[in-house]
Amino acid sequence: MSTNDDTDADTDAQAQSEVDYEEDRLQSTRRNAAKFFAALGGAAAIGSFAVTGLYGLDESALSGGPDYNYQTLYTQGTRVVDGEGNPLTVDAIEQGSGESMTVFPEKEGGGALQVPVATTLLVRFSEGDYSEPTMLDGTAQGYSAYSAVCTHAGCTVSQRTGPNDRDFLCPCHQSQFNPLSGAEVVSGPAPRPLPQLPVGVAEDGEQLIIATGPFEAHIGAGE
Ligand code: FES
Repeated sequence: MSTNDDTDADTDAQAQSEVDYEEDRLQSTRRNAAKFFAALGGAAAIGSFAVTGLYGLDESALSGGPDYNYQTLYTQGTRVVDGEGNPLTVDAIEQGSGESMTVFPEKEGGGALQVPVATTLLVRFSEGDYSEPTMLDGTAQGYSAYSAVCTHAGCTVSQRTGPNDRDFLCPCHQSQFNPLSGAEVVSGPAPRPLPQLPVGVAEDGEQLIIATGPFEAHIGAGE
């Protein structure tokens, strides 16, 4: 028979479970942030950003300042650069290979805007491999790009998995996203796709990869 004591115990257990989950999530995020900054060699960078700010929708904290959000990180014509700030040309990735790289928007004056919220996945398949809900006019010569900030709890999506390593994989809780279908969620707890960044190839002789507009949706955790 159920008693008030039992009910209180159940409530306490549930509350403790929720606390445990939240701690686990924050620890995952901190570990991910540490890996991100380690990958950047970012002892200087880490002093500028709140590591715990990686979780949630506080894009000011995520980006290192109020000037950046999903609509301003990239705008039409922003050059896509590698982690060292080098602009990328159309031959950066072999067409049809399905390979990907982590890229960033170019800062004003040059260099990579290396902040977590700006981390972007650039991938190149064949043009005909894509289907909706991919924003097809946001692909160019087989290239597409997506935010690397997981929509579950804000970790950086950094791995590949699935058939022929087609999908992006978040290492924190194994959410899996299909880049050929608008980075829709294949499995895992992420509630929505990775936002797509429309890209094009500049017709200026250098054939640089550029954004043709901002991210299509807000970046980070949450619906
Ligand atoms: S943060 Fe949980 S699956 Fe990515």
